Amino acid sequence: SLKLAIVGGGSTYTPELIDGFARLRDSLPIGELVLIDPAADRLELVGGLARRIFAKQGHPARVTTTTDVDAGVAGADAVLLQLRVGGQAARGEDESWPLECGCVGQETTGAGGLAKALRTVPVVLDIAERVRRANPQAWIVDFTNPVGIVTRALQNAGHKAVGLCNVAIGFQRKFARHLGVAPELIRLDHVGLNHLSWERGVTLLDAPGAAGGREVLPELLGGFGPEIAEDLHLPLPVIRRLGVVPSYYLRYFYQHDVVVEELRASGSRASQVAEIERQLLEMYADPALDTKPELLAQRGGAFYSEAAVQLIAALLGTGATPGAGVDVQVVNTRNDGILPFLPDDAVIEVPAEVDADGVRPLPQRAVEPLFAGLIANVTAYEQLALEAALKGGRDRVFDALLAHPLVGQIELADQLTDRLLAHNRAHLAWA
Ligand code: G6P
Ligand code: MN
Repeated sequence: SLKLAIVGGGSTYTPELIDGFARLRDSLPIGELVLIDPAADRLELVGGLARRIFAKQGHPARVTTTTDVDAGVAGADAVLLQLRVGGQAARGEDESWPLECGCVGQETTGAGGLAKALRTVPVVLDIAERVRRANPQAWIVDFTNPVGIVTRALQNAGHKAVGLCNVAIGFQRKFARHLGVAPELIRLDHVGLNHLSWERGVTLLDAPGAAGGREVLPELLGGFGPEIAEDLHLPLPVIRRLGVVPSYYLRYFYQHDVVVEELRASGSRASQVAEIERQLLEMYADPALDTKPELLAQRGGAFYSEAAVQLIAALLGTGATPGAGVDVQVVNTRNDGILPFLPDDAVIEVPAEVDADGVRPLPQRAVEPLFAGLIANVTAYEQLALEAALKGGRDRVFDALLAHPLVGQIELADQLTDRLLAHNRAHLAWA
């Protein structure tokens, strides 16, 4: 049986993972689960609930908790990273100061996302070093945002890492529900970067993992266009004419100024999440609670346990059903020529064959200029953001912002750089 470690295991999201591990235990036989987190009080609450969920579902795994990364990752076959440096408080700032400059305030997009990258990359690289020292064979699965930049940092440092997000699996499940079919029969023609992706096609397979199948995107946009557009808060006529389904993160680009006005009027997502987390932790403290509470559905992490189990099961070779064909999953991994207009070491988000030998992204047909331009632009920003995270310095922060398609002007980049540094000194060793 397997040993898994979760860094950031004290997250209120963890019960979602535990619930998935329990339901999907046949494909991923976990014997030991270690929750690692610097917050000992949260570890105790979340660890207690994790044990009760496993016990209730008759799952045999032992759940342990520790604040010590080295001790926690020792002997782990796979390590999940789901940490948040500075917690919701730091996120709240990322969502606020960009608005003062007329820019979107968001945890992964724009200047706020850059701040998150700068805080996060050094911490994740330190943890990954510890994982490699403990077991060079261990897989690192990164949920930690910004997933594209963090995964690029991990892969450039030679780690055995893959990045994961729930946007694609969310579309897969939604499209399957519209069509009244099992999600395993839906394959996405998903292309782009993390939080900058488009569904260019949707294939309905005859059987899970089967070759061929039928293109159903036009039918989805025809029959379920209004639902799809409403979910994304994007205008249906544009979606229908483009014939693709953009992820909801594209709204921060395509309707940037509208979103800025909305965000100015509403409270930050971080403060809503902090309130949800307060209530969740209160629930987790109840020794009678032994299921994932309904309230957790108000967080953005729908299906992320399924995505994690599928990916880890494929990487560790425990999930294969004989005769089920190739396992294709949307992941974040090294470009290596798949999108020829990007550097090889860029990290892209595309479908990939996944098995015990690793992750092999599938070839992509030429990307239309409307999408390729933005992908190339944001990839260049991500490269500069990573350099700023690794080497520090005001100029590198400024350059990354100047390269970002939502900033791009000297005066704006200057104002944002000043604010980013002022709000993040406590988390940046070099600032
Ligand atoms: C989705 C995204 C994640 C993001 C989350 C935010 O799941 O894919 O990358 O972190 O939403 O959810 P929250 O409840 O924290 O706003
Ligand atoms: Mn994501």
